[in-house]
Parts: sequence; structure tokens; C-alpha cells
Amino acid sequence: MANAIIYVFSGTGNTEKICRLYKDEFEKNGVQTTLYKVTSNFDNLPNPNDFEYVGFAYPIHAFNAPKIMITLARKLPKVSGKKYFVLKSSGEPLRVNNISSYKMKGILKRKGYEEFSEYHYIMPYNMIFRHTDTMAANMWSAARELAPIEAREVLAGKEHKLKGVPFGHFVAWLLRIEHHAMRVNGKMFRVKKKDCIGCGACAKNCPVGNIVIKDGKFKFHGDCLMCARCSFNCPTDAFNIALLNGWRVNGKYNLSYDGEPQKPNHAWYCKKAYKRYFANAEKKINENKNN
Ligand SMILES: Cc1cc2nc3c(=O)[nH]c(=O)nc-3n(C[C@H](O)[C@H](O)[C@H](O)COP(=O)(O)O)c2cc1C
Ligand code: SF4
Ligand code: SF4
Repeated sequence: MANAIIYVFSGTGNTEKICRLYKDEFEKNGVQTTLYKVTSNFDNLPNPNDFEYVGFAYPIHAFNAPKIMITLARKLPKVSGKKYFVLKSSGEPLRVNNISSYKMKGILKRKGYEEFSEYHYIMPYNMIFRHTDTMAANMWSAARELAPIEAREVLAGKEHKLKGVPFGHFVAWLLRIEHHAMRVNGKMFRVKKKDCIGCGACAKNCPVGNIVIKDGKFKFHGDCLMCARCSFNCPTDAFNIALLNGWRVNGKYNLSYDGEPQKPNHAWYCKKAYKRYFANAEKKINENKNN
């Protein structure tokens, strides 16, 4: 039986949801699929050579892949012409996000991996500002219809490369300062004592073990990836995420929202880019319905 692996890092679940859609579609097409969740211990790291299809999936952070994906690329073995695809999610559909895989791809290329396709899905922001549930549900609806189509394209080996961006390598390099800055920022996280109910979920679920709670006291180490998992999922919104606190988003979106359309507070933001994304998605979905 054919098989596939997707190495996925997902801070708050958006990217993982996309990967699950791929897994479902792959398996419908007879391809047994493993989702390997990337955490800092890289436990039992599967060898890509053992799989016919190899994918890497991550959320875009500051127009880059999170540092843990770069570390993953460094840890993987050398191969000979192994083809791979990339899946990524982010909150806004700006073309500059096309630069996000450059560093990871560079490392993989030097190790003998060959990229053949990359797909970008727009999912609700877990940082910066909160989308309305109306918008979040629209994003999810588009992704749910697109992902199976594009999963079949991956299985067919179809090439799908994202357009380059002028000075993209330089911009991506410059913004990778985020990787260092967030480690420092993560040390400055605080938890509001009056709000914390001591559930321990933040410490238990941090992908890099950055949060330690001892005798009710919180300690933050210097390994934060700024994935937002702790602050986004805290049931009482007790986190203060230091320099990024003004951009904090807390609480799951209702992706199946179908009530009255909600008025966005940021209607002007990337308006044209969202319109283009949804129009292109609809076009592709319709074309595939008609085929
Ligand atoms: C630190 C940080 C930086 C981010 N930077 C970007 C960005 O540059 N562009 C963007 O469109 N979204 C950005 N986002 C939003 C996430 O990419 C988006 O919400 C994504 O779907 C989250 O996926 P996840 O749930 O798998 O972590 C950022 C989120 C975080 C936490
Ligand atoms: S998730 Fe929130 S409420 Fe639970 S222990 Fe952490 S800070 Fe406290
Ligand atoms: S401390 Fe919070 S934001 Fe930082 S890596 Fe852990 S869960 Fe993610």
C-alpha cells in the first residue's frame, strides 16, 4: 500500500486541521498517511525514505516558518532526490507570505530533497486581531473544499510552486529576527493570578516545554516559539504575552458559524487580497465540480 507522511507543526490547530483534510483525502485514494506532530524532542523522527509522499506543514510566523521547522529540516537525513510538498496556513493572503518556506527549502535542497508543490491556506488569525466567526467560517469552508482537490494534485505529482517576491530572501532573513526575539519575549510572559484557575493546560501543551508551574508559580524559559498555543487556549484569558500582548487573540473560533453575518472591526485590512483569495478558491472549486 502507498504511504505518506506529513511533518506538521501547528500552534493552535489551524494547520493541523488542513493536514487532516489531506490525510482523509489521501486515505480515500488508498494512501496510508501519518501525521507526525513536530515537538522539540523530535522523538522517533520518521525517515522520509520510508514514505512515498512527504510533506511539511506549518503556520506562517512573521512571513517565515517557525524555527522548529528549520530545526526539523536540519535533523532529517540526507536523501537522493526525494520529492516533497509544503502546506502552510496563515491569517492573511498577502503574496509576501510566499517567502515563508525559503530557509527550510534551502536546507532541504542541500540535503537532496526536491520541492514539487506548495499550498497556502488562509485560516483565522491566532495573533494580531480576532477575525469574526463569519470570516473564520468562510475561510474554513474554502479550505475544506480546496484541500481535497489539492491533495489529489499532490498525489498526481502536479507541480504547484508559489510566485517569488522581489528581495524575498532578504526580507525573510531580516524577519527571522522573530525567532530570536520571541525567545526573549517568551521569558517575559506573565499570568494574571486572579484569572488563572490552575488547570495546567498551558504547561502541559507547550510544544517546547517552555512553561513550568511549580507550587502555583509560573516559570518561563527561553525556548518560546511564539506559537500562541498557551495564550490562545487559556480558558480564562489569563496570559500576558509581553511585547505582543496588544495582538493577543484568545479562544477558539466557531468555524461552523452560520448565523447573521458579523461586522468586522478590521474590514479595510487586506480587503482586496481576501477578495482575491476567495474568488480564486471559488473558481478552482467550481472548475473541479464541473470536471
Ligand atoms: C507569532 C505569530 C506570527 C504570525 N505571523 C503571521 C504572518 O506573518 N502572516 C500571516 O498571514 N499570519 C501570521 N500569523 C497568523 C498565523 O499564521 C495563523 O493564524 C495560522 O493559521 C495559525 O496556524 P496554527 O493554528 O496551525 O498555529 C502569525 C501568528 C503568530 C502566532
Ligand atoms: S491555561 Fe490559563 S488557567 Fe490554565 S494554568 Fe495556564 S494560565 Fe492558568
Ligand atoms: S510558551 Fe506558549 S507561545 Fe511559547 S512555545 Fe510554549 S505554548 Fe507556544
